[in-house]
Amino acid sequence: MAVLKNLVAALSFAGASAAATTIAQITGDKYLSPLNGTGVEDVAGLVTAKGPNGFWIRSPTPDKDDRTSESVYVFGRNALGNVTVGDLISINGNVTEYRTNDDYLYLTEIINPRNIRVESSGNTVTAVVLEGKTSGLIGKKDLQPPREQFSGLDNGDVFAVPNEQSRVSEVNPRLDPKKYGMDFWESLSGELVTVKGVTALGRQANNFGDQWVRGNWKVSGQNSRGGLTVTNRDSNPETIIIGAPLDGSENTNETKLGDQLEDITGVVQYVFGFYAILPTTGTKVKSSQEAIPPPSSISSNGRCNGLTFGSYNIENFAPNNSRVSLVAEHIVDYLNTPSVMFLQEVQDNSGETNNGVTNANLTLASLAQAVSDISGIDYLSVSVDPVNNQDGGVPGGNIQTAYLYNPLEVRLRDPNPGTATDVNEVVAGPALRFNPGRIDDGTTFSNSRKPLAAHWELVDGSGTFFTVNNHWTSKGGSSSLQGDPRPPVNGGVDRRSQQAELTGSFIAEILAQDKNAAVIAAGDFNEFAVVEPLRRFVEVSGLRDLDVVGKVPENERYTYTFGASQQQLDHMYASSWATRRVGRGDFEHVHVNTWVAEEDVASDHDPSVARLNVCSR
Ligand SMILES: *[C@@H]1O[C@H](CO)[C@@H](O)[C@H](O)[C@H]1NC(C)=O
Ligand SMILES: *[C@@H]1O[C@H](CO)[C@@H](O)[C@H](O)[C@H]1NC(C)=O
Ligand SMILES: *[C@@H]1O[C@H](CO)[C@@H](O)[C@H](O)[C@H]1NC(C)=O
Ligand SMILES: *[C@@H]1O[C@H](CO)[C@@H](O)[C@H](O)[C@H]1NC(C)=O
Ligand SMILES: *[C@@H]1O[C@H](CO)[C@@H](O)[C@H](O)[C@H]1NC(C)=O
Ligand SMILES: *[C@@H]1O[C@H](CO)[C@@H](O)[C@H](O)[C@H]1NC(C)=O
Repeated sequence: MAVLKNLVAALSFAGASAAATTIAQITGDKYLSPLNGTGVEDVAGLVTAKGPNGFWIRSPTPDKDDRTSESVYVFGRNALGNVTVGDLISINGNVTEYRTNDDYLYLTEIINPRNIRVESSGNTVTAVVLEGKTSGLIGKKDLQPPREQFSGLDNGDVFAVPNEQSRVSEVNPRLDPKKYGMDFWESLSGELVTVKGVTALGRQANNFGDQWVRGNWKVSGQNSRGGLTVTNRDSNPETIIIGAPLDGSENTNETKLGDQLEDITGVVQYVFGFYAILPTTGTKVKSSQEAIPPPSSISSNGRCNGLTFGSYNIENFAPNNSRVSLVAEHIVDYLNTPSVMFLQEVQDNSGETNNGVTNANLTLASLAQAVSDISGIDYLSVSVDPVNNQDGGVPGGNIQTAYLYNPLEVRLRDPNPGTATDVNEVVAGPALRFNPGRIDDGTTFSNSRKPLAAHWELVDGSGTFFTVNNHWTSKGGSSSLQGDPRPPVNGGVDRRSQQAELTGSFIAEILAQDKNAAVIAAGDFNEFAVVEPLRRFVEVSGLRDLDVVGKVPENERYTYTFGASQQQLDHMYASSWATRRVGRGDFEHVHVNTWVAEEDVASDHDPSVARLNVCSR
């Protein structure tokens, strides 16, 4: 990178020989080194950082090409004693491409370091400052990470289908650091950088304190909390994960979404599937936000023109687990005890004990009791027990979708509950063959939760409505957004597309009989609204996305944090009739979990709530 010139200009280097190889020649202008597999001699570099297994050197003779990194990693524990940060050295070694997993990118590095000669010591080591405008640097380069696209191999959309049409390691594209986020970080691989104005993009990513952040550069998709939301064709390549500190200290493990961290200096390195900055020392929180979001302003008026519908994936919820009262508080205090709650991930009465129990009525009763204790509202529950261990999730847990409902407002219409193996159908009316009953065809939802369809009526006779409670196949098996397959593997996407067809067709049959039927489909679809399965679901079902109808700003459409981004796996869709009065403020995602500290988390998902008009015409 040409920007480095001023950072090394003061160094004079005597050791160059005719055979000398520069770092830029090693890193090259593509992903893979043109010198991979060869021996290199007299490589000159300033030691900028040391880690537990090697060190990083920066070229004293940078080229003018933005694509070539001017720094490189030297792997070799036994050479560590030969160098000190600030040494200008020359070194021999072998260039190699290293990765631990076929779905990761390769890291270009020098191995077998030999013949290290220290030319001078105590040289100043300056980090490259990453920010919107880097005016102090030669060429006034703008080291601004690209904000939308990850790779030129993604056909413009990191979630385009079909997935895995090519591999970075096979195409080995020339880097375009101004356009593509991965290319940008690759062009800085090995570089010592400083990030200022660091914002945490969620809680720490794992038990090691790894942390996704953004710096004080331009971003897109910023939500009101300071995080970055996944939007159409923008999954936030301008972010980076902070990895393990080089000095063996620990990163803070107490971040919350939107917290400010102290400035971070470290080296850019691809590790475990992501471009990371390995900080020279552990990260620290500088300032933190008030944890708790405001309660929803939406509440039921108990009449058909203002019923409320909540949806909440309560994450492997077992009876009497430690989160029962917290989940109940969310339902009562933050969602204002909706008329109907769509729940997902309700475990059976024995929790994760793998004993053949599939009935979840005690689990639901324990939640209903906790809700009653705070609100005085006595919810009833309805669900259909699955066949033991046939619906995915933790073995023995038998997670299922279920409804809680306020019997003073609504009740099932002509109840006729199906069993796990009864396949629900739309019959003349429209009505349901089983109420409630599961949508299934024997294959589309195998090893996954079957959508639970129900038909309801207002207790006062003023309206009826249908609901479909969803928890589609998970994204398990996805590859890293910064990985080798392009577009990345979106785990389960084909299954979810089939699930969209089947569920959407079921709903379309109701609307074919009565275009003014009120139909609400909600739950954890394990997919984003802009990706193929949910685009298809809207087309097939004829339902409308409540985020759109309720004018939720795009950057505030999230219920989950994964990797660097807030994202929306949970959705609510409703028929035209049910949404005819819906406007701004009638649908909300309530961030009781994405915003709070680890110890206050009740679930990995946030709940959502909507107010709808289900009055009969
Ligand atoms: C790098 O070179 C080695 C030795 O020639 C070769 O085995 C390896 O496949 C190369 N790596 C890549 C990613 O091309
Ligand atoms: C490293 O480079 C040297 C010098 O070119 C060569 O003799 C040696 O075989 C290489 N070692 C490996 C492991 O490739
Ligand atoms: C490190 O220094 C020792 C002692 O001078 C020397 O024997 C060894 O070869 C050096 N290691 C490297 C990688 O140059
Ligand atoms: C953070 O680390 C400390 C010390 O290891 C530990 O006691 C604490 O439980 C951790 N907190 C979180 C939220 O993981
Ligand atoms: C749960 O279901 C079992 C079996 O149907 C029934 O005997 C029991 O009374 C139910 N308990 C509650 C609290 O609904
Ligand atoms: C939950 O705890 C209460 C009080 O200890 C107990 O009465 C109830 O049976 C428990 N429910 C379940 C499902 O274990």
